[in-house]
Amino acid sequence: MARNVYGLDLGSYEIKVYDKKKDTIWKEKDVLARKEINELFAVGDEAYEMFGKSPSNIEVVFPMKEGVISRFHDMQFLLAALLKKDRQFVRGAEYVIAVPTDVTEVEKKAFFDLVIHSSAKAKEVNIVERSIADAVGLNLDVQNTKGLFIANFGGETTELSIIAGGGMVMNRLLKTGGKTFDESIINMIRHSHDFLIGRQTAEHLRKSFGVFTSEADEMLPAAGRDLITRVPMQKMISINLVRSAMKEPLLECIRSIQSLLDRTPPEVRKAIKENGIFLTGGVAHTAGLETYIEEMIGIRTRTAIDPDICAVSGLKKIIRSKELRKLAYSMLEENYRWMK
Ligand SMILES: Nc1ncnc2c1ncn2[C@@H]1O[C@H](COP(=O)(O)OP(=O)(O)OP(=O)(O)O)[C@@H](O)[C@H]1O
Ligand SMILES: [Mg+2]
Repeated sequence: MARNVYGLDLGSYEIKVYDKKKDTIWKEKDVLARKEINELFAVGDEAYEMFGKSPSNIEVVFPMKEGVISRFHDMQFLLAALLKKDRQFVRGAEYVIAVPTDVTEVEKKAFFDLVIHSSAKAKEVNIVERSIADAVGLNLDVQNTKGLFIANFGGETTELSIIAGGGMVMNRLLKTGGKTFDESIINMIRHSHDFLIGRQTAEHLRKSFGVFTSEADEMLPAAGRDLITRVPMQKMISINLVRSAMKEPLLECIRSIQSLLDRTPPEVRKAIKENGIFLTGGVAHTAGLETYIEEMIGIRTRTAIDPDICAVSGLKKIIRSKELRKLAYSMLEENYRWMK
């Protein structure tokens, strides 16, 4: 029996997995909930439900932070629990993992160690730069392109990449993502209404409003706590407040896109202008984001069909195609000889 192959995109918000044997992609929140020390309570989406509502004896842990593994053993534990959950998990599989580029070698190696030294007993581990996986997911010709710009708007990071001739020309990982917007919304509402809302409520407001598309007088109810009376209640929140909270972090992304383009060699920049900018990552679901970027930068911008699973769809193609397999490499070879 052929051994299974898993494609992994470990996000700070959600983990996305491609299971070759079943030919399916699934995703779950990258969260675990623990009762007392080491007693597992819940994993994935179920654990996320407890976030912000859990009693004090339950600890809710996000093992990834800003795109990298911040709590190694928790991440290893969570991954194993998710893979084993009703999914006929068999040990000795092969893993192809999407990794960020603009991180240290130690942080990159942690993705490799995560599965090679786990109870999953990986047979083989290969890695792919995440923006290369995104480009394959977008059906772009990574090998022959003269210039591509991909912006992955994730939960805690925004990864900007320029690809040409099958490789990475430039890459920058910004520590700005959905969480940054949500924290900014929480702060803005606290200051202007003396009203405290949770992160999930802020996220819900951000997703429900058409931040780039709706009329200026739109309002939505939000549950929270009045900071003066201490009473839990609902208040009406205006779209303008959410818009102004998002303005600064969005502008930071725009400035970074522009500065990366400014540093791009002219012939690559010319190709990017022709090919356009591509958006992936969950935040790219926000309607109108591409029009905003297009207007600010002046380059045609398009969004992937399923932006949050674009990278893992790329991993799926890489796993299934002999030709594309070349885009995945082992950390035990070539540049990584120092590890032996
Ligand atoms: N429909 C939607 N509209 C707006 N934002 C959305 C939507 N769906 C998901 N998001 C946001 O997408 C973010 C998660 O995206 P994604 O899964 O790409 O992140 P991640 O890969 O886990 O994080 P990172 O890549 O930063 O480590 C969350 O902040 C979530 O609120
Ligand atoms: Mg991501």
